[in-house]
Amino acid sequence: MCGIVGVVGRGEAAPLLLEALKRLEYRGYDSAGIATLVNGGIARRRAEGKLVRLAERLAAEPLAGTTGIGHTRWATHGRPSEANAHPIATPRVAVVHNGIIENHAELRAELEAEGAAFESETDTETVVRLLDHALARGASPEEAMAATLPRLQGAFALAVLFAGRNDIIMAARRGSPLAIGFGDGEMYVGSDALALAPLTERICYLEEGDWAVVRGEGATIFDSAGRPVERAIRRTAISGAMVGKGNYRHFMEKEIHEQPAVIGDTLKSYLDPASRRITLPDLGVDLAAVSRAALVACGTSFYAGQVARDWFEQVARLPATADIASEFRYREPVLDPAGIVLGISQSGETVDTLAALRWAKAQGARVLAIVNVRESAMAREADAALLTLAGPEIGVASTKAFTTQLAALACLVIATGEARGALTREAASALAQALIEVPSQTAEALELERRIAAIADDVAAARDVLYLGRGTAWTLAMEGALKLKEISYIHAEGYPAGEMKHGPIALIDEHVPVIVLAPPGPLFEKTASNVQEVHARGGRVILVSDRAGCERLAPLCAHTVPMPAVHPFAAPIVYAIPVQLLAYHVAVLKGTDVDQPRNLAKSVTVE
Ligand code: G6P
Repeated sequence: MCGIVGVVGRGEAAPLLLEALKRLEYRGYDSAGIATLVNGGIARRRAEGKLVRLAERLAAEPLAGTTGIGHTRWATHGRPSEANAHPIATPRVAVVHNGIIENHAELRAELEAEGAAFESETDTETVVRLLDHALARGASPEEAMAATLPRLQGAFALAVLFAGRNDIIMAARRGSPLAIGFGDGEMYVGSDALALAPLTERICYLEEGDWAVVRGEGATIFDSAGRPVERAIRRTAISGAMVGKGNYRHFMEKEIHEQPAVIGDTLKSYLDPASRRITLPDLGVDLAAVSRAALVACGTSFYAGQVARDWFEQVARLPATADIASEFRYREPVLDPAGIVLGISQSGETVDTLAALRWAKAQGARVLAIVNVRESAMAREADAALLTLAGPEIGVASTKAFTTQLAALACLVIATGEARGALTREAASALAQALIEVPSQTAEALELERRIAAIADDVAAARDVLYLGRGTAWTLAMEGALKLKEISYIHAEGYPAGEMKHGPIALIDEHVPVIVLAPPGPLFEKTASNVQEVHARGGRVILVSDRAGCERLAPLCAHTVPMPAVHPFAAPIVYAIPVQLLAYHVAVLKGTDVDQPRNLAKSVTVE
């Protein structure tokens, strides 16, 4: 989604803003722009498409000035075009905006009736026109902000540049995150800490409803009632080096390969390998007394939730549901007062998940968050949070965030099972041991990369691909299909293997690769029968199973991926590796933009 940067600086602002925008590219965008103050007046360069287009514009017509704002836009209101690209400006004021101004239509009608001539189709322009209107009547920038913000409904993060005021930019947040960075005689604004990573380690996150006047030497922050407030300045753990690609071609490739290490880091924080005991932070709940778990999330994080749903029921004997966050509130689920609601999110900012958690909290539910970003809204708003230690995930298609979510959830499930008496100490210890082995098993699975890259040749030519599995492998089948769709643009479906005969079997012919995920365990034999059914209809099976499974079914398969032996409990974590590698190599062969696939955003901050 959109990215915001701003600087009140000492050197040239435009190159610094462009570099910071590059670090926000991962969020997904379709146009970009920068505004600076040149001789006190607002000057802009904007371009549709990727940042290289903006860089070309800036090379042809450089922007001077030491104070400025920049933006990458993911279109919501108004198509991606130069006219709709931010900064949206009048000669008095320029604005970059993340989020949606929900009452934009009323505001626009009111402002047009007063004579304002809108130049874009954006909801953002209503903010610009309100500020401009106040400034035209002699208001100071502070007064203009104080008059404008209460008129806005919806979610926003804003950075604002004022003509004639080289000494300030203003920032405001409601709903969308915004950070202020403290430099050496220079100050920055960014929609996340990654944008500011190489510039400063000292970051302060604005709280809900805050707005700030940012000067070269510091910032004055006000709450929604206009009272000056202090907000803690923290040192961010994100370094510039962590957001580089290293020797990899793509962030996604790097992140796939980081999994043995980051799964290990996540497990280490919740599992003591010596005693094989789970040690969770204080979650403020008695796990023995919890009556049910409701898991909510979007995208790949939802699939982590769906695996955890099965784990909670099978391992901890706790009734559990998994919901797509954008559907959760609207189906009006019955929440048990003794239950917990678990939100799962890499970014901790996905609006649908955040809204679902806020709704659950308002119903009196206890809300836990499984998040990767410590400073995120979900981490702050939930009653307690379990962090995944994946480190910054830049590739839009989630990989290491998913497997670390599963690692953290697996620890929570074992702890719950033991607390409820569903698991004996020995049984809990055996499951903990299964998790301890996951980092080395994922490393072994990564060694299959060349074999999977060769299979990718076959898949890249397909128009449709079917993924099948049973139990948690069904969820992995859906995750595999999602990965393939996201980055290679090939239509793919993940289906419960046993349900294939009720529909998708009609699609099967020699042109549709059928990827079957069949880890060892009680469901293997049933899945093997489904492989027979596909083979009997001329389908091309690509089997992912352990060595014994692959040997047995090889005569029925076009390709096999012989995985290391894994405990069935840990299989969904380890089996994520081949589905990620397959999608990655298919996308590379197809030449798509692997890290920033078309139309997708990393962190979806609109409903
Ligand atoms: C977007 C991303 C996905 C991600 C989903 C949920 O769709 O492209 O990779 O799984 O959002 O994001 P979250 O940050 O809440 O895990």
